[in-house]
Amino acid sequence: MIRHFYLVGFLVLLAVVGCREEPVTGPEVPDGGTITGPDAPTPYALEVPDYLPAPITDPENPLSEEGVELGRHLFYDASIFSTDGNMSCASCHKQELAFTDGLGRALGVRGEPGPRSAMSLVNLAFNPNGFNWDGRSPKLWEQAIHPVEDMLELDNDWEEVIRKLREHADYPARFRAAFGIDHTDEITRELTVKALAQFERTIISADSKFDRVFYQNTEFFTEQEQLGADSLFFVENVPPATLHPGCGHCHNAPTFGDNKFHNNGIEDASSLDDIIDKGYGDVTGSRFDNGKFRTPTLRNIALTAPYMHDGRFKTLEEVIDHYASGGHNLENEDPNITGFTLTEREKAALLAFLHTLTDESLLTDPRYAAPE
Ligand code: HEC
Ligand code: HEC
Repeated sequence: MIRHFYLVGFLVLLAVVGCREEPVTGPEVPDGGTITGPDAPTPYALEVPDYLPAPITDPENPLSEEGVELGRHLFYDASIFSTDGNMSCASCHKQELAFTDGLGRALGVRGEPGPRSAMSLVNLAFNPNGFNWDGRSPKLWEQAIHPVEDMLELDNDWEEVIRKLREHADYPARFRAAFGIDHTDEITRELTVKALAQFERTIISADSKFDRVFYQNTEFFTEQEQLGADSLFFVENVPPATLHPGCGHCHNAPTFGDNKFHNNGIEDASSLDDIIDKGYGDVTGSRFDNGKFRTPTLRNIALTAPYMHDGRFKTLEEVIDHYASGGHNLENEDPNITGFTLTEREKAALLAFLHTLTDESLLTDPRYAAPE
């Protein structure tokens, strides 16, 4: 009796459903939140010439083809990241300037300069010591959180960024392809910055004249460049305790930056407590680290003026004059900042060598350029 009652109910239900106008099986995306399309990321093989160290991998954020591609789209997308839709990461990190901006101090979306100079983004995959001039971001993906919300950079709000990404016509499928997610509400800040970091890690600069002469053996230095390299820049042939530019102590090949923290003598303060931008000191809390900054790479240095964390030197000549002056003798100044005297011929040779570090192919490599 009871069974019979159920059966009648079921038939009634069928009749009701059968009369409805909309089909029961709906379109591909039934509830707005589900994303369809490929969801199995393809591992990305990061190719690095054998004369560079092995790139550091991040088990929390392995590279995939789809993740790198998503990151590239995000990196160049002004409509997502800035409040006025006019700025993206690439506004301050321009490929044609080896991912710097040509300014002493970076100009944010409000048109006001920040405290520091935009950094080049090449060969980040070899830095084990924290990102930014002061190393305060231990992880590359974590670094990308800050420019988005920094008032003096993109000045945006992550909730707003994530809302735009979830509602976007194209990004949800890219996030699914890169991270295998099923619903738009799984698009998070963490996945967004991880995609950006995946793209950034692929930016490798290793095809300068220096590489072709030194590692690939396909070109020769001029006599002047050779003098700059052997007698002035690198330290291998230098007897100890000679006054010598010794740039290679900290800017050593093949990356041309040791990624360690040094006071290279630019700060003219009366004591370590009077340094305004304390750099690494603010990260460690140790007074002895005040005024220390991470040695940046000198690859593509001829393209990335002005120089130093605050863009204080406009030219490489000014940089050499600074190192020649021997700094300001603050107690934590690195012992390799000795001061030295160069003849005009030697100075020109050191400059000529620095120019051999420019990698022209980087500047137009379509893998790092804005998506079509
Ligand atoms: C307004 C200009 C500006 C914008 C926009 C900007 N950056 Fe930067 N970037 C900088 C400056 C300035 C620094 C150095 C910051 C510091 O040391 O305090 C920097 C540093 C970095 C570094 C550290 C590199 C290293 O070697 O440690 C990375 C990575 C980076 N930016 C990525 C990004 C990404 C990704 C975006 C977009 C989400 C972005 N930047 C947007 C100016 C900018
Ligand atoms: C003791 C280590 C050390 C030595 C030796 C050294 N540097 Fe540096 N260099 C640094 C550090 C650290 C910075 C970043 C300082 C800052 O911005 O406050 C830097 C910054 C630079 C910059 C600016 C890079 C940029 O992206 O703005 C240039 C150019 C440079 N050095 C060239 C040289 C040359 C040329 C020599 C040799 C004459 C030399 N350095 C010797 C540690 C060193």
